[in-house]
Amino acid sequence: MVSGGARAVARCDELGVAPYSDAPDMLFRAYLTPAFAAAQRAIAGWMIEAGMTTRIDAAANLVGRYEGLEPDAPPLIIGSHIDSVRDAGRYDGPLGVMLGIEAVAALHAAGRRMRFPIEIYAFGDEEGSRFATAMLTSRAVAGTLEPGMLDIADARGISLDEALAPFELSDLKFAEARHPGALAYLEAHIEQGPALEALGLPVGVVTGIAAQLRYIVTVTGVAGHAGTSAMTLRSDALAAAAEMVLAIERIAREDASDLVATVGRMEVAPGAPNVVPGKVVFTIDIRSGDQARRDRAAAAILTALRGIAAHRGTGFTSEQTNDLAASPCDPRLMDLLEAALVAQGVAPHRLVSGAGHDAMILAALCPTAMLFIRCAGGISHNPAEHADPADAEIALRVMLGFIERLDAL
Ligand code: GLV
Ligand code: MN
Ligand code: MN
Repeated sequence: MVSGGARAVARCDELGVAPYSDAPDMLFRAYLTPAFAAAQRAIAGWMIEAGMTTRIDAAANLVGRYEGLEPDAPPLIIGSHIDSVRDAGRYDGPLGVMLGIEAVAALHAAGRRMRFPIEIYAFGDEEGSRFATAMLTSRAVAGTLEPGMLDIADARGISLDEALAPFELSDLKFAEARHPGALAYLEAHIEQGPALEALGLPVGVVTGIAAQLRYIVTVTGVAGHAGTSAMTLRSDALAAAAEMVLAIERIAREDASDLVATVGRMEVAPGAPNVVPGKVVFTIDIRSGDQARRDRAAAAILTALRGIAAHRGTGFTSEQTNDLAASPCDPRLMDLLEAALVAQGVAPHRLVSGAGHDAMILAALCPTAMLFIRCAGGISHNPAEHADPADAEIALRVMLGFIERLDAL
């Protein structure tokens, strides 16, 4: 018989290609696309097979529920996201959902119910790869949506409300996804870094998640003929943006800490070989476990960018699109997770998450815990991402041990 961990990995692999990807040549599953809907249908089938009832909430999250002995008790939520970045790996997000389903499947097969219900959340938008605001759907569940956050459109100009329509949902009711109250939130996720692999450990307990800021920057120059615009007379938006990217890298490097800053997307207009670029739009993502350090770096970066724009005579605007506070995991839940991990014969190790997770949003709703699973070479947000089925099996057993311990409290 295939182990639950191996089945969880195999299901992520199955979800890694069409019809569960919107792109024929890579995995890209953004929020509310046809591939997203197809993935929800497949996962709902697996939830039902595992003994759960399913529903789609007002934010288009797929939720499976396994009743407890005390039906009105606040549930343990186990979740992660099923949207992906462009050209993604197969495990960032879905593995946490699949392992949650496997945990319930194991309880169901053993005829076990806990005092509390268990709800498995397959969150719709964590990556922010379609709309600029990330973690929209966990924010709806945690009740932390802010005014204006739903007033957004994707790169093709499709509004959130229009994207929700095929799901028979509307942005007017999005906030109704708010959860009435949970006992705890558990998320299993690939580490997306090299620490566990270097230590020879299959899993580790997360202590907290780094703070994030994201911006969209627009640099405006003057488009002109590439053959006739003299070098000294140009206002080249891309040349200015290039200098800005290097300044961002330098400021983050010079901090010589856990501070990281990334320009991950850049659009150049008009985008022709024979036209001096007139406009560049790019993103900045800044993170640190220390929120004050992150904010100091963000201020230094924006000052540097304004200086470059002034020096080169280009226009410059910046808009902050995300501000995620650092999120410590709950010490008591960390201890439970660690006890479950030690019971599997794994040496305990605690580590910080540089990547963002739905857990950092759910922390506003209930205490949170995260279990990291070793990933090959620490590679993530890359199709080469790999998680070992044997490690996933250990993670599953740790999750089951955690659930038992939570039930015994
Ligand atoms: C999510 O993967 C993030 O950390 O950006
Ligand atoms: Mn990710
Ligand atoms: Mn993720």
